[in-house]
Amino acid sequence: MAEIIIVDNEDEAGELYARCVIDLVRNRPDAVLGLATGSSPLAAYRHLARHVRDEHIDVSRVRGFALDEYAGLDPATSQSYRSTITRTVVQPLGLDPHLVHTPDGGTDTLATAGRDYDRAIADAGGVDIQILGIGTDGHIGFNEPGSSLASGTRIKTLAEQTRKDNARFFDGDVDKVPTHCITQGIGTILKARHLILLAFGAGKAEAIAETCEGGISSFCPASALQLHPHATIIVDGAAASRLRHKDYYAYAFAHKPQWQEL
Ligand code: GLP
Repeated sequence: MAEIIIVDNEDEAGELYARCVIDLVRNRPDAVLGLATGSSPLAAYRHLARHVRDEHIDVSRVRGFALDEYAGLDPATSQSYRSTITRTVVQPLGLDPHLVHTPDGGTDTLATAGRDYDRAIADAGGVDIQILGIGTDGHIGFNEPGSSLASGTRIKTLAEQTRKDNARFFDGDVDKVPTHCITQGIGTILKARHLILLAFGAGKAEAIAETCEGGISSFCPASALQLHPHATIIVDGAAASRLRHKDYYAYAFAHKPQWQEL
């Protein structure tokens, strides 16, 4: 079972994530970060960038792997996840762009790109800390409901709901949102050594309740986190509102021994 932490706001969550990453990079200067797009991780990246700056952390050898990418979208366009990760993570943190990877969504190479990406992650020694958001339907990365819990990186068809949710990045026009993507599989994500999932707002409450307290099912891909030995789910009060045991989670966090790390 994941540790569930209920915070007041995104900044508090972002600070917890940032501290974890800073501690990691101090010990392992060539750490491998698993990176996610979406609005949920933005405060976490901001806090991390501030710590890197204020504490003069050397991130020149830090490596990164993004979760997913749209298929058939020019990586140079502002909506591509390559551009998004460059804007939100690589530039503010001052990472070496050559050490940060996104899956190749080019249509010519899609048949082999997934396997190549999983191999590149393995060759890097695996992901140390993977940050995750969650879709309103419980997806992580772009693993839509029905995704195999053992899946590797591969092409997927986006659900209509996901395309509607993401239309805000494409001038509000759902028809401009690509229909396909390449995403790390759930099996790939589960190989990361520490998973940190962030969710905020009432729109995520149902997905979070399913993820934490529902059965493990490919119909709620994020429920696979229940299988992971080191998963942390950080939510605000609104996203936690449908959790049956939220009082216990708050109590457990308030009484967490000092020696126990996140
Ligand atoms: C997209 C991304 C996911 C992200 C989700 C939720 O579908 N592929 O990685 O978790 O959006 O985004 P947000 O955090 O903006 O709600």
